[in-house]
Amino acid sequence: MHLTVFSAYAYEQPYLTRAAQGQHELRFVPAPLGPDTVAQAQGSQAVAIFANDDASAPVLERLAALGVRGVAVRAAGHDQVDLAAAQRLGLRVANAPDYSPYAVAEHAVTLMLALNRRLRLADQQLRAYDFRLGNLVGFDMHGKTVGIIGCGRIGGVVARILHGFGCRLLGYDIKTNDELRQRYELTYVPLEQVCAEADIISIHAPLNEHTRHLIDADLLAKMKPGAMLINTGRGAVIDTEAALAALQSGRLGYLGIDVYEHEKGLYFNDHTLSPRPDQLFAALLAHPNALVTGHQAFLTREALSNIADATMASVTKWEHNEPSTCELV
Ligand code: NAI
Repeated sequence: MHLTVFSAYAYEQPYLTRAAQGQHELRFVPAPLGPDTVAQAQGSQAVAIFANDDASAPVLERLAALGVRGVAVRAAGHDQVDLAAAQRLGLRVANAPDYSPYAVAEHAVTLMLALNRRLRLADQQLRAYDFRLGNLVGFDMHGKTVGIIGCGRIGGVVARILHGFGCRLLGYDIKTNDELRQRYELTYVPLEQVCAEADIISIHAPLNEHTRHLIDADLLAKMKPGAMLINTGRGAVIDTEAALAALQSGRLGYLGIDVYEHEKGLYFNDHTLSPRPDQLFAALLAHPNALVTGHQAFLTREALSNIADATMASVTKWEHNEPSTCELV
């Protein structure tokens, strides 16, 4: 099959080429899929897209008109795809749901530990030959209560890691998982109770109409004073302005985010010489108790390899007119 790979970053091209095993012809397009780039799918039967591509109804209509039959999402989250429109247009859509929950879970825990032990400040001070410790005091993870919002694949691995640390685990999800209850002593409680009791809250729910701004000013006000909030899910699950205000007032103790509500068009590219009009983002970066990474939680060698394999497995199925095992519509 001929496949146009949008948002094709140099770091993942070797993995995709290897996974294609010469069976599929790949065209790498560095730009994301969107109204201005969709024409580059001309001649392809499938496209592969990433987290911040635009697969809204108008773009999908253009793809279908070009003869594209399938959209492979090289990510677990698929909030960027209008699935109803895809179904209406007869386009197949698949994601890569299970490429490495470890990569993302380990990054979430990295953010927790780095914030707790003030690694950013510690590094700055040490490089300036300032070896004082007074402003680097952290806390034991052992014995702390951690609330996991969205206890699926990634949230489940976070539970496993933090159980090993000796944390008490609370979970909030629309469904329950007995293994997490039994093996990691996770207790499912209402969201308000997670907020009231957790020292650390980590978000691993997908972005959809129920979770957009799930963490808003009201919930932030219900959190334990000084709590830590971590988001490696999708940026818009948090009302970022409200979270920044809570951080600035001292109500929220720490904020660690790998995903940012307005990251589209910003993340994944070099903007060192661009104007920086986003005041909210600048304020987050400036806050000493905020730690921001640029949507890199997934970025391990194992994950890249598995994403490439899942993408090519879907394309191979579609070539034989069969549904992918990761089909979303
Ligand atoms: P999953 O589908 O295995 O787990 C999601 C969990 O959230 C499920 O248990 C589901 O029941 C729960 N959930 C759904 N709606 C909910 C709601 N309204 N309230 C509470 N819980 C709800 O997905 P997985 O693989 O764990 O990924 C979770 C999210 O992480 C993805 O949707 C994606 O947005 C994000 N992600 C971020 C990455 C990054 O690099 N930062 C990489 C991979 C995923």
